[in-house]
Amino acid sequence: MQNFSQKLIDWQRQHGRHTLPWQNTRDPYAIWISEIMLQQTQVSAVIPYYQRFMTRFPTIAALAGAHEDEVLQHWSGLGYYSRARNLHEAARRMVTLHQGTFPQNFEDIQALPGIGRSTAAAIASFAFGQRQAILDGNVKRVFARVFGISGWPGQPAIEKQMWVLAESLLPTEDIERYTQGLMDLGATLCTRTKPDCLRCPMQDDCVALRESLTTELPSPKPR
Ligand code: ADE
Repeated sequence: MQNFSQKLIDWQRQHGRHTLPWQNTRDPYAIWISEIMLQQTQVSAVIPYYQRFMTRFPTIAALAGAHEDEVLQHWSGLGYYSRARNLHEAARRMVTLHQGTFPQNFEDIQALPGIGRSTAAAIASFAFGQRQAILDGNVKRVFARVFGISGWPGQPAIEKQMWVLAESLLPTEDIERYTQGLMDLGATLCTRTKPDCLRCPMQDDCVALRESLTTELPSPKPR
C-alpha cells in the first residue's frame, strides 16, 4: 500500500489528539503512568485520576517511597487494582535495579511488572523515540479492517501475523506521531460499532471498506 505510515502521520498532524495531559512531555514516568491508566479505561475517565496521581506522586522516587495503601487510594474508582500494585512495585524496582531512573532498554522496560510488549513499545516510542511497534485492541481492529485480516485477533496465529505486520509498517522517522496516530485512528474514527470511513485517511486502501466488511472485521471470538 502507498505508505500507510506516511498517511497516518499526516492525518495525526492535522486531525489527531494533541492536547491530552500526558502528551507534550518526554518524561517516561509521566508517559508510563498514563499508559497504565489508559489500558482498560477511557481517556475522559483517566484525565482527573492522572492529574491527581501526578500531583501526589510526581516522580519515581515519590511513588516508590509511598505506602501501597495511599497508591491504591489514588486509584480508587479506576478499577483493575493490580495495575496500581504493579505500578508501585515497578517504581520500587526502578529504585533498586535502575538507580531510580526509568530504564531505556526495551527488554528492561518489558520486564517491569504490568508492562507488556505493546505498553513497553508505547512508552519507548513516546519517551525515547524508539522504533517499536504497538498492538493493542484498537490497533488490531484497524489492522483487521485496513488489511482485511480475518480470524479472531486474540488467536495466537493471528496475533503473531499482526505483530509482524505492525513491525513492517513502522516509519523510519516521526515514530511518536505515528504511534499516537494509530491510537487516535482506532479511538476516534475506526471505532468498533460506527467507523467514520468518510473521514478516514485509509479510505482508498481499506480492504474492509472496499468489500463492505467493516461490521465483520475484526472477527469475533469463536464460540
Ligand atoms: N490509549 C492508550 N494510550 C493512549 C495515549 N497515549 N493517548 C490516548 N489514548 C491512549
